[in-house]
Amino acid sequence: MMAYDAWKQLAAAAAVKLVQDGMVVGLGTGSTATFMVHALAQRIQEGLHIVGAVASSQASKDLAAQLGIPLTDLDSHPELDLYIDGADEIDPQLRLLKGGGGALLREKILATSAKRFVVIADNSKRVLQLGQNFPVPVEIVPFALAPVRKRLEALEAVVSVRKRGDGTFITENGNIILDCAFPNAVANPEEMDARMHSIVGVIETGFFLHLAQQVIIGGPDGVTILPFVV
Ligand code: A5P
Repeated sequence: MMAYDAWKQLAAAAAVKLVQDGMVVGLGTGSTATFMVHALAQRIQEGLHIVGAVASSQASKDLAAQLGIPLTDLDSHPELDLYIDGADEIDPQLRLLKGGGGALLREKILATSAKRFVVIADNSKRVLQLGQNFPVPVEIVPFALAPVRKRLEALEAVVSVRKRGDGTFITENGNIILDCAFPNAVANPEEMDARMHSIVGVIETGFFLHLAQQVIIGGPDGVTILPFVV
């Protein structure tokens, strides 16, 4: 197993310890979240009784169902007790960039519907500035592609339409994703997020700003929890 996988697994195991009987839990998407779904299933097998889990993607939902995790939805439980998910980048203020897996909209709906949002990642995800290693994914209405693209380019983004194989990637909400690369990273994510949101046709961005209460990082020295609790 690659070191990164072992570190993701460490973070996932630590986060799953936060789940308690009677909780409604949100399941993230991606390779780190997949480790978490397995760890949660293990705890359920050992006797943990959650009310149910709400998944941020079909992949996480299918995996949870396969592993025997009880599923529910936001209609039944509009508020989650805990949402656990990975991230593509995490800055020193615990601001995140997400959406590398294309599930950003449902992920943000769950993150903003949870009493507590805990992020799990290996230590390669820590950055000084968001946009440093990954483009900023922006989910948009397909009809608005050309004008939205022009407006994002006016924000100095290098824009590409996300692909899957030979075709365009379509999100689970029927939309498309424009990946916006910023060669010098993003100095002011709040301002960039607001500017992107002001473009009609933009549905959501991969900036998750001031949403994570806690970040659990797995690395060569074990688990680091941010912010440090004193
Ligand atoms: C999914 O849409 C993303 O937001 C993921 O949370 C992110 O890409 C992290 O994925 P990994 O855990 O696979 O790095």
